[in-house]
Amino acid sequence: MRKQIVAGNWKMNNDLSQTESLIYELKKIEKTSTAEVMVAPTFTNLYKAFESLKDTDIEVIAQNMHFAVNGAYTGEISASMLKSVGIQTVILGHSERREYFNETDEMLAKKVDAALANSMRVIFCFGEVLEDRKSGNHENVVGSQIKNALFHLDADAFKHIVLAYEPVWAIGTGETASPEQAQDMHAFIRKTLADKYGNEVADSVSILYGGSVKPNNAQEIFSKPDVDGGLIGGAALNATDFFAIVNAF
Ligand code: PGA
Repeated sequence: MRKQIVAGNWKMNNDLSQTESLIYELKKIEKTSTAEVMVAPTFTNLYKAFESLKDTDIEVIAQNMHFAVNGAYTGEISASMLKSVGIQTVILGHSERREYFNETDEMLAKKVDAALANSMRVIFCFGEVLEDRKSGNHENVVGSQIKNALFHLDADAFKHIVLAYEPVWAIGTGETASPEQAQDMHAFIRKTLADKYGNEVADSVSILYGGSVKPNNAQEIFSKPDVDGGLIGGAALNATDFFAIVNAF
C-alpha cells in the first residue's frame, strides 16, 4: 500500500509566535484519517516546531536545502544542518524555487543526491506552466522534469522519494486542476516511472497533488486512484482548514 500524505507548505509565512500559535491550534484537532501529516515551517522556526511537535504524529519538514555538504554558500542550509535539528524530510524543486531562484533540473538532481546521502526523505515537486498546458505540452514538460532530476537514481532510492505534481497555473491562484486532470497526469507520472523502473517501484511511490487544494475540493481530488495526497499551501496556514483536508481521506 502506498502511503497517503498531506503536507502543509507554510512558505515564507509566520514568524516565531505565529508559528507557535498555528502549532497550538493544530495540536487541538483530532486526526481521523490514516494519512501521514507534515508541516514545513520556514528555516528559523524549524527547531522550535520540531520540539513542539515531536511527540505528535505531525512531522516537521523543510522547504528547501543546498546540495553542498558545507562551505562558502552564504545564506544556505545543508542537509546535515537540517538533520541536526531533527528534520528528516525536505521539499525540493518547488516551482517558486525554480521560478524565483533559478533552480534547474541539474541543480535539483544534486540536491536530491545530497538529501538521500544524508538518509533524508525527499518530496520532489514539478509541474507545467499554463502555456505548456494550453499547448498540450504538459506531459513532455513533466516527463523531462522527472527524468532530468531523478532518473540517474537506482530503484531503491525511490523508497525515500515522494513526488508532488503541482501545475504552476494552479498554485495560489484558486484555480485547481480538475480531479480528472490530476488523475490523468498522475497516471502518466506512474507510467513514466514504470517504464524506467518497473511496476513494483511505480506502484509504491506516493504521488501528491498540489495547487489550490481546499477543504471543499480535497475529497474529490484524493478519491482519484493515483492521487496519494496533497501538498497544501494557502489552506495549510489555517489549522481548521488544513485538518479538514487531512481528514478528507
Ligand atoms: P496553494 O500552494 O495550495 O496555495 O495553491 C500549493 C503549493 O505551492 O505547494
